[in-house]
Amino acid sequence: MKYSVDGVARDDEPRPGQCLRTFLREHGTTSVKKGCDAGDCGACSVLVDGRPTHSCIFPAHRIGGLAIVTAAGLGTPENLHPMQQAFVDAGGFQCGFCTAGMVVTTSAFTTAQKENLPQSMKGNLCRCTGYRSIRDALAATKNIECVDNQAAQGRSIAAPASARLVTGNEPFTLDLRDIPDGLLHAAVLGSPHSHAYISGINTAAARSAPGVVAVLTYLDSPDILFSTARHENRTDDPDDTRVFDRTVRFIGQRVAAVIAETARDAERALALIEVDFEIRAAVFDPADARSPTAPLLHADKDAVSRIADVQRNVVAAVHEGVGDAEEALAGSAAVVEGTWKTARVQHVAMETHGSVGWLDSDGRLVIRSSTQVPFLVRDELAHVFDLDRLKVRVFATRVGGGFGGKQEMLTEDLVALAVLRTGRPVQYEFSRSDQFTIAPSRHPMQVSVRVGADTSGQLSALAIDVLSDAGAYGNHSVGVMFHGCTESIAVYRCPAKRVDAEAVYTNNVPSGAFRGYGLGQVIFAVESAMDQLARKLGIDPFEFRRRNVVVPGDDFVDWHVEDGDLEFGSYGLDQCLDLVEAALSSGRGTEPEPGSPWKTGRGMAIAMIATIPPRGHVADTTVTLESDGRYVVRIGTAEFGNGTTTVHHQIAATELRTSVDRIVIVQSDTDTGGHDTGAFGSTGTVVAGKALLIACERLRDRILTRAQAICPGPAALAADGVDVGHRRIDFSTLLESGPLSADGRHDGTPRSVSFNVHGFRVAVDTATGRVVILHSVQAADAGTVLNPAQLRGQVEGGVGQALGAALFEEIVLDHGVVVNPTLRNYHIPQLADLPNTEVLFADTYDKLGPFGAKSMSEAPFNPVAPALANAIADACGARMYAVPMTPDQVWRKLSR
Ligand code: FES
Repeated sequence: MKYSVDGVARDDEPRPGQCLRTFLREHGTTSVKKGCDAGDCGACSVLVDGRPTHSCIFPAHRIGGLAIVTAAGLGTPENLHPMQQAFVDAGGFQCGFCTAGMVVTTSAFTTAQKENLPQSMKGNLCRCTGYRSIRDALAATKNIECVDNQAAQGRSIAAPASARLVTGNEPFTLDLRDIPDGLLHAAVLGSPHSHAYISGINTAAARSAPGVVAVLTYLDSPDILFSTARHENRTDDPDDTRVFDRTVRFIGQRVAAVIAETARDAERALALIEVDFEIRAAVFDPADARSPTAPLLHADKDAVSRIADVQRNVVAAVHEGVGDAEEALAGSAAVVEGTWKTARVQHVAMETHGSVGWLDSDGRLVIRSSTQVPFLVRDELAHVFDLDRLKVRVFATRVGGGFGGKQEMLTEDLVALAVLRTGRPVQYEFSRSDQFTIAPSRHPMQVSVRVGADTSGQLSALAIDVLSDAGAYGNHSVGVMFHGCTESIAVYRCPAKRVDAEAVYTNNVPSGAFRGYGLGQVIFAVESAMDQLARKLGIDPFEFRRRNVVVPGDDFVDWHVEDGDLEFGSYGLDQCLDLVEAALSSGRGTEPEPGSPWKTGRGMAIAMIATIPPRGHVADTTVTLESDGRYVVRIGTAEFGNGTTTVHHQIAATELRTSVDRIVIVQSDTDTGGHDTGAFGSTGTVVAGKALLIACERLRDRILTRAQAICPGPAALAADGVDVGHRRIDFSTLLESGPLSADGRHDGTPRSVSFNVHGFRVAVDTATGRVVILHSVQAADAGTVLNPAQLRGQVEGGVGQALGAALFEEIVLDHGVVVNPTLRNYHIPQLADLPNTEVLFADTYDKLGPFGAKSMSEAPFNPVAPALANAIADACGARMYAVPMTPDQVWRKLSR
C-alpha cells in the first residue's frame, strides 16, 4: 500500500483491522500520540488528505494513495507552521502531550471554525491548561516574552521545549527506540472478582501460544511487600502490595502477565490462562468496612506492614484535638454542622502510565518510565528485586501529565520482573480504560463538620470527622488523610479543634495521590460550613474570614499545635481576600441569557497549603561551566507540565548572569543527577529550584575567585567571561586550571505557606438546575512570580481540573465495577465547558523560597468546589453537600 507521511513516500501493509495510529507509530511516526484509542481526546490527530482525523479510529488500510500530515510535517522546530508559532507565542500548553494533535486540528480550521471554538474544539482535549492559553493561540495573542538579556527571572519566557512540542518532536516515554533489539510487550490478566484467593493457575496453553515468550504469575515474582506510593521515607506508606499477589482485592488487580513479541500476541494469549478463584466476601462502603462483621482485606499482614488496624480495615487514623471542642460547641452562639461528600475522580493525564525496560551492556536494569519520581522508583525496584541500587537506572523523558498520579510505581515493577526473567527489553503501557479501572484515583471522602462561633463572629470550635475510602491498597492513604486534616483547619484561628479521621480499606479500585493531596476534599466541607456560619451570623463571608484566619505570629494548629518546621515565610492571604472581593464587585464577567428563570449569586472560599511536604524532600543539583559559556545543570526533577524546567532555566540564567539559551538541563535520570525526591507536593521550584540557586551562587563565587586569582580586583560575571577591571577573562582561560562546577542541596525545610482565594459569580437556572459561571476569579499568593504566564497557566489549569470535579466528573462504581471507564462516559472539561478565570497575584516575597518564590501548582484546585457551592447557595438557596454538583443534583435541592 503506497501512501505518504509528512511528505515522504512510503509503501507498507497494515495488519488486518489495524488503526492508523498504531500503524504510524509502528513505522516510526511518534509525533502521533496515544491518548484514548477511542476517538475521544484528539492526541492522535493527523490530517488525512487535509482533513483533521482521529487516527486511533481510522482504519489504516484506507490511507492507500493518500497523504498523511502530522505535527512533524506541518513544520520543523526551525521553521514552524503559523499555528505552531501561535501556540509557542501564547504558551498554549503545559505538558504538551495534547499539543501535536491540537496543532494539527487547528491548523485546518476555517474562519468559521475559529469563531465557534466550543464546537470546533470538542474533539481535542487538554487536561493541563484550562484552555485559555489555547484560545489565545487561536486568537494569535502573544503571552510569551522574547528574553535575550540576563534577567530571566520574573519574565514570561517560553518553555525550552516549545518548538519541539508543537512539532511533535519532543519525545515522551514510549516515543524513543534507543533500546536494544527484541522489544517484547506485556499484557495483563486482571481479576474478574473484587475479593478472591487464587487456588490454582494454569498457564501452559498461554505459554505455547504464538509469539509468547513468558507468562508471569505470583509463582514467578518475589514475595516482597511494598507500596506503589512513593515517598522519600518509604515507611510513610503501608507495605501491603506485591508484584503479583495470591489474593486479589479489587476487580482488575493483576493475576498474570503475558510477555510476547507483539502487544497483540500478548493480549490474545491472556484468554488461554486458566485461574481457579476461591471467592471471598467483599465490602465496598468504607463505613461498612469498619464494622465487626466486614470481610478483612489485609488480615494476613503484621505490624511490619504499618497498617493502623487490620481487624477494622483501617489503614490510618487520627483522633486528637486541641482544647475541648464539645464544650466550646455547646457554648457557641451559632453552630453549623453538616456532612459533605466528594467523588472518586481520575487524574486523566493525557499520557497514560507506561514504562519500557531493558538490560544495558553491563547487565544493569534500565527503566524509562512516565514517572514523577524516578529516584524513588529506582530505590523501590532495588528493594523489591533485592538489587544493589547501582545496578538499577530509572529515568524519564518529558512526562505527559501527572497531577500526583505518577507518584506511584504501577508499571515499572512488572517491566522489571519481565526484563529480569526474559533478558529482553519489555514495554508495558496502560490503556485509557486501565487508567480508570486499575490506576489509583482521588480518595472519595465523607467529611462531617461542626463549627461554632460567638456573637462577634469569632470562631470558638471546629471539629471534623473524616472517612476516606482507600480502596484495596493503602498507597498514599496515610499521607492524604493526614494532609487533608492539616492546613484545611490550620488556616483558622480557633481555640478548640478536634479531628477524627480514618482511611479505610474497601474492595474498590485503590485511591492515591491527587492534586491537593486530600486538602480539596476536606476544604470543600470546611469552607462550605464556614460560609453557612457566616450567613447565619449575618457577616459577609470575606469579613468572616478576615476575623478568623491565621496571621503571622499565630501558631499553626490542626489537631495539635504545630511544632515542626512550618512558618510564615511570607503572608498574602489578606491581599488575596481583597483582590477577589474587589474583582467580584467590579462588574466584570458576563450576565445570564435573558428569558430563563435565572437566579444569580456569588461565593468564595479560601485555601492554605504548606509549600513543601513534611518529613523531608531532598534535591541535589550540580552546575558545571563549559568553555563556550554554557552551563550544564544536572537535576533530578521530572518535567510533566509543571514548568519547573523553564523556571530552572530562569533561576540559573539569572544567577549566572547569562541568557537562558546557555543553560543546558540534564534531568530526571538516576544515572546523571544527584538524588531528588521527585516532582510532587509542588516542590519543583521551592526545593529543586532552591538547590539549583545554591549551586549557582557557589559556582558564581568560584568563577569570580578564579578570575581574581588571574587578575586581582573587583570582578563581575558576564555571559562570555568575567570582567575584572578593564579586562575580560574568557571562560576557556578560566578552565585551563581545571573544571569549574558547584553542588547545591536543599532538604525542604523549613517550609512556608501559600494561599489561594477563589470567587465565583454564578447564575442558576431554577427550572433545570443548570449552573452558569458568570465570573471566575482566583487570587494566589505564590511569593515572587518567577514566570507570570506559566504561573497563570498553572492556576487556570488547576481551576479547570477542579471545575470538572466540582461539576461533572465521577468514576461510577457498581459493586467494584467501574461502569464508565472511557473518556466518552467519564467527561473531563472540553473547551466549551470552562469559563476563563481571572488570575490575580498577591505581591509578597517569601524569605524561604528561591528569589522569594513559593510553590503553587496543586493549590489552585482546593478552594474551587466550595466557592462554587457557596455561590450556588447564595444564588438560589440550594446548599450542595456533594460533588459533582450536576444539574440534576442542583435541581433536586431546589425542588425540596
Ligand atoms: Fe494539554 Fe497537557 S498540555 S494535556
